[in-house]
Amino acid sequence: MLLTETLLDTFLITRKESETICAPLEIEDYVVQPVEYVSPPKWHLGHTTWFFEEFLLKPYLKGYKVFDREFSYVFNSYYETVGKRVVRADRGNLSRPSVQKVYAYRQYVTNAIKLLLDKVKDEKMHQLLEIGIHHEKQHQELLVTDIKYILGNNPLLPAYTDSIKEHREESHRQDWISMDPGIYEIGHDQDSFCFDNEQARHRVYLQAYEISNKLVTNREYLEFINGGGYSSFELWHAEGWDWVCKNEISSPLYWHTIDGEWFNYTLEGLQEISGDTPITHLSYFEAFAFAQWKGYRLPTEFEWEAAQEYFPWGYRWEWTESAYLPYPGYRKEEGALGEYNGKFMINQKVLRGGSFATPDNHTRFTYRNFFHPHLRWQYTGLRLAK
Ligand SMILES: [Fe+2]
Repeated sequence: MLLTETLLDTFLITRKESETICAPLEIEDYVVQPVEYVSPPKWHLGHTTWFFEEFLLKPYLKGYKVFDREFSYVFNSYYETVGKRVVRADRGNLSRPSVQKVYAYRQYVTNAIKLLLDKVKDEKMHQLLEIGIHHEKQHQELLVTDIKYILGNNPLLPAYTDSIKEHREESHRQDWISMDPGIYEIGHDQDSFCFDNEQARHRVYLQAYEISNKLVTNREYLEFINGGGYSSFELWHAEGWDWVCKNEISSPLYWHTIDGEWFNYTLEGLQEISGDTPITHLSYFEAFAFAQWKGYRLPTEFEWEAAQEYFPWGYRWEWTESAYLPYPGYRKEEGALGEYNGKFMINQKVLRGGSFATPDNHTRFTYRNFFHPHLRWQYTGLRLAK
C-alpha cells in the first residue's frame, strides 16, 4: 500500500494527465461518438470523476455534497448496483453538461479528495483510491484511442498534434525463443497493485513451444494482403469471415491507398506506411488469419506470460489465443466494484503487453486486457508462436 502522501501525488498527477491528453482538442471534438464503443472525451473526463465521487466521497467524506445530483445518471458506465444510466450508445447525444462544467466538476472532486485524504485514514479507503487512480489510467488509454478514432474517421483526417511518436520500431532480428515443457506460475503475487482478474496465482502445465522475440511488422502484413489473405476464406474463423464480408474489410483500421501506395492515419495525420513498424489496429480475426497464413499460431496468454522476460514488450496489445476466463481461485471485489471485471468474462479474447497509449506504470506482465474479437481501435498487434 502506498503512503498517503505518495498516493495523493499519484492521484493529482493522474488527474492532470487526463486533461493534458485533451489539451490539443477543439471544443467540438469533446462531444462526438462515431460508434458505440468509442466514448466522447467529455464523457471520459466526467466518468472518471464520478468514480471518485461515487466510491470514495459519498461513503467516506462526512457532509460531502455531490456536485450535481444528475451526474450519476450521465456518468455511470455499467454499474447496476449504482442505478440507472444513459445507455452507452447515447453518450454522444450529451451536448450538456458543457465541457466547461465537466472541468469544474473535475476540480470540485479533486479538491474534495484532497480534503478526504487529509481527514480520513482508512486502509479500505486507500485501496479504493488506488483502484480509482488505475481506473482513470485505463480511461486515459481509451481517451487516446477514442480521440484517434474520432479524428481518424473525420473526412478531413485532422492531426491530433505534430509532436508525438506513435510508432516505435523493434530493431532486433526476428528469432524463436524455445520454452521447455513444464509447470509455470501464472498470475499476480499480490505484493503490489493488481486488478482482481490477475489472481489467483496458480500453476499451469505448458507443452514445449516456441515464441517469436519480435512483433509482426507492417511489411509482413502487407505480404498477407498482397497474397490474398482477405479473400481466402480457409484462413478465417466462420465469424471472422462473416465480419470480413459484411464490412468489406481488406486492410487494418486506418489504412488508405492513394495512387496505389499505402498510407495510414496516425495522430500526426496521414503518413506513409513504414515496413519495419509493428503492425497495429488489427482485430483478433485478422491476427488469427495472418498466423494461419504464415503456418504458425498465436500464443496462449500463459505461454506469453511464461516467456515474457525473454522478449521486449509494451509496444502493442498482443492478441492471444486465450478466452477471457476467471483464473482458478478468482474472487471478485465486494460490492459495486465486483462489477469491474468478472461480469465481462464471456465472449472476449485476452491481450497481453501494452501500447504507446498505455500510461506509465500502468501495465505489467500479469495484466490481462480483453476485447471482443472484432474490435481493432486499440493499438493491437500480434506475436507468433509455434
Ligand atoms: Fe470506467
